Amino acid sequence: MKHLLKMSDLSKIEIIEILNLADQLKYELKHNIPHRHLEGKTLGMIFQKSSTRTRVSFETGMYQLGGNALFLSSRDLQIGRGEPVQDTARVLSRYLDGIMIRTFEQKEVEDLANNGNIPIINGLTDYCHPCQVLADLMTIREYKGQFDGLKMCYIGDGNNMANSLIVGGLTVGMEVSCACPDGYRPDQTVLDFAKDYEGKFTLTESPLEAAANADVLFTDVWASMGQEGEAEIRRKAFAGYQINDEVMAAAKRDAMVQHCLPAHREEEITAKVFEAHADEIFDEAENRLHAQKAVMVKLMKN
Ligand code: CP
Ligand code: NVA
Repeated sequence: MKHLLKMSDLSKIEIIEILNLADQLKYELKHNIPHRHLEGKTLGMIFQKSSTRTRVSFETGMYQLGGNALFLSSRDLQIGRGEPVQDTARVLSRYLDGIMIRTFEQKEVEDLANNGNIPIINGLTDYCHPCQVLADLMTIREYKGQFDGLKMCYIGDGNNMANSLIVGGLTVGMEVSCACPDGYRPDQTVLDFAKDYEGKFTLTESPLEAAANADVLFTDVWASMGQEGEAEIRRKAFAGYQINDEVMAAAKRDAMVQHCLPAHREEEITAKVFEAHADEIFDEAENRLHAQKAVMVKLMKN
């Protein structure tokens, strides 16, 4: 594993290894056991979109690992004035030991990886959000003990979260069902990936059908970063694509709920369901820290 560009870069074994290390690092942090695996290393964090969790968890995580993190806003970098990614990658490779990038196009992340010679970590693109899904899988395993025999359900936009959850869920052995309105389906590359998991993947337009007997339910915002201009059209298209009492009643009695956050209450999830599952959702947010520390150790430790 040289980079983390998308979930399909990872085998089941690699995912489990990351989750095992994440569990260990979480234990060490909680018990004040030093784990300074990245002493003297520097991570650059390029942000072309907003962030609360990703920025703070990477920066804090790098600090706990004994290294440094640099916040690099595209507003301040020459990239924002048109300096090619290829040149930026070659320059930053000379200073840094790894780069985390949050941007729009997946191609930009792949270009960074192809042009530099240090590990690149995808901190969210329009196509995928692998760091989030590693934290999600960690949380599911924490609560449910294993993946085999579990059903994951995603309701809402076939966006970066849907794309990464489908690939991640199927790879670790879960059944995955997805409810998306027509016109808002997951990326074709992800639907093609799912073809290899016959009988384990379903795509429907019905949230209740998708939620039937689910062990874990996911949703995400109706309009992602960069889609603010479509918010009104999307509000209409996604009406009914909500985790609410009716959807919860279709799932298993002990089903857990996950949300990558930020959440829009009464849009993709009711305030009632959100608050009833707040512990799981904020454990999920916390696990961003531990899962990403594991990724950084795997990629950046000598
Ligand atoms: N879930 C997530 O990636 O949150 P941020 O946008 O706050 O980083
Ligand atoms: N789909 C959302 C996820 C935010 C973490 C977005 O891209 O804005």
